[in-house]
Amino acid sequence: MLGPPGAGKGTQAKIVAEKFDLAHISTGDIFRDNIKRKTELGKQVVAIVDAGGLVPDELTVALVKDRLQKDDCKNGAVLDGFPRTADQADALTELLAELGSEIAIVPYIKVRDSEVVERLSGRRTDKQTGKIYHLKYNPPPQGADLEHRKDDQEDTIRDRLEEYHNKTAPLIAYYEQKGLLQEIDGEEQIDVVSATVLRKVEATRA
Ligand code: AP5
Repeated sequence: MLGPPGAGKGTQAKIVAEKFDLAHISTGDIFRDNIKRKTELGKQVVAIVDAGGLVPDELTVALVKDRLQKDDCKNGAVLDGFPRTADQADALTELLAELGSEIAIVPYIKVRDSEVVERLSGRRTDKQTGKIYHLKYNPPPQGADLEHRKDDQEDTIRDRLEEYHNKTAPLIAYYEQKGLLQEIDGEEQIDVVSATVLRKVEATRA
């Protein structure tokens, strides 16, 4: 899943993973979980993640390499938030070749910067289930135990967007050249976006 912060990558990745019985690998979730549990990795990355910067490539690639070899990835995986730099993209191609696999599709969820700020300021995540809500667009059930991400403050969102435009957006052309990119209008309602994503993923499996 490619797209700016708040494009809906996590929301859509969960739906695709469930529908096609794939593992859902979110590098952001893995970093946040390690930060919460105060592991060595968590301590290494907390300042970077909270400031909206990118974790160094070597660390991120090693983590994904390890994760992709787990049993639940046998049927395939949805990568959410990875790769995010040209070096990560090259590393992923090599890694998948080593594992005898390849990328089937790169859904690029396109959303304007102005919409990103609105979405992330209203995002809340259920602490127990990890389910993603939005106070206005996808309201949580009453009584849910919710969390507002530390990097979802307006200043940090702007910094994340800058990182995205400088380092990740060039991957759009990279995957387009490889014939893998499928652009999706991420500003439609969640179920409309899902229907498009699912249809495009389905087409690669026919
Ligand atoms: P990560 O967790 O990957 O954050 P991100 O890419 O900034 O993406 P988000 O999780 O903010 O948004 P999303 O696109 O998943 O949107 P969501 O579905 O939640 O990364 C966090 C940090 O970890 C990075 O800044 C970096 O420090 C580090 N990191 C992670 N991966 C890395 C890597 N590969 N290399 C280096 N560092 C890395 O939706 C957002 C909101 O909008 C929700 O409230 C949702 O309900 C709502 N919404 C979704 N779709 C719609 C819709 N269609 N209409 C209206 N509202 C919608």
